[in-house]
Amino acid sequence: EKGGYDHFMLKEINEQPRSIADCMRGRLDAKNGRLVLGGLRDYMNKFQNADRIIITACGTSWHAGLVAEYLFEEFARIPVEVEYASEFRYRNPVISEKDFVIAISQSGETADTLAAIELAKSKGATIFGVCNVVGSSIARATHAGCYTHAGPEIGVASTKAFTAQISVLTMMALMLGYQRGTLTESKYVQLLNELEGIPVKVEKALKMNSNVEKIAEIYKDSRNFLYLGRGYNFPVALEGALKLKEISYIHAEGYPAAEMKHGPIALIDEEMPVVFIATKDTSYEKVVSNIQEVKARKGKIIAVVTEGDTVVRGMADHVLEVPDTAEAFVPLLSVIPLQQLSYHIAVMRGCNVDQPRNLAKSVTVE
Ligand code: F6R
Repeated sequence: EKGGYDHFMLKEINEQPRSIADCMRGRLDAKNGRLVLGGLRDYMNKFQNADRIIITACGTSWHAGLVAEYLFEEFARIPVEVEYASEFRYRNPVISEKDFVIAISQSGETADTLAAIELAKSKGATIFGVCNVVGSSIARATHAGCYTHAGPEIGVASTKAFTAQISVLTMMALMLGYQRGTLTESKYVQLLNELEGIPVKVEKALKMNSNVEKIAEIYKDSRNFLYLGRGYNFPVALEGALKLKEISYIHAEGYPAAEMKHGPIALIDEEMPVVFIATKDTSYEKVVSNIQEVKARKGKIIAVVTEGDTVVRGMADHVLEVPDTAEAFVPLLSVIPLQQLSYHIAVMRGCNVDQPRNLAKSVTVE
């Protein structure tokens, strides 16, 4: 059932070209410039005219929500708030009928997310679910939704569900931007084509870093890790850190790279591995300066870069490459080597990768 892999997590990491394609199948047809999400049909009007989009989720799904904040604001120009379900539900949030709430959950059973939905519903907001498990409680509690179709995710650490969530949210943002006219027809078609090519690039990303295990071997006994990224790669930094801590029990923190100098820089010495997500995008130059700052303090640098990058390669101790793509789609690629790195570190440390201590696949109690 593990399809020849040692662990479900590795199987699920490697399934991503297919799970992302499954997620887009029947929805995206770039050749004909078509993108249809059946679940949105009856609510497109509400979505398009929303004053605000509120995204609520927990854990990895919350990280997918953060990526969506960048997507929705860039393409559709609607303000977005991303809320931990556990905080949102208890702070008497300001919600109205003009809000469009998106709840993201792999299992569809997360207690806090479900409670956040009930609260927003009671205030008259429209609730849209992005779930993986068909017929789950959250899928049933929402007004409408879109399944991620990633297939069953058995490993407790979420991998293919995360990229499928981002795929759905990306399609939603593109549809919304196009309908609202904030995204031009030509840009829209160009992005649809790029998105359709993502599964092939994920396949490539999975195979192009034969050095991941070597890097894992070198740093497997580190006590701490820092993950830094900016823009679309900031949520990826959080997700990379979460993947490492939950399965390898190494303390790891993710930060927006610019926040480093407001505190975490004090932690940097020759013992500290710092993972930079430094792909070629609008914040590239800024990330390069942040890398220099870490290097000056003798931190060890592992950088995720765009294929062919030479500048960061010349500065980093190790690089992990991903294929080039549109800036907004980078998280679907840049998270791949981080999933692989945490997997290999956890295996080398003898950890129970699929069922880490103290964690459950669905958190049905608050
Ligand atoms: C991380 C992880 C958790 C879940 C979180 C939300 O790998 O598995 O952080 O992402 O418990 O779960 P869902 O998405 O099922 O609501």
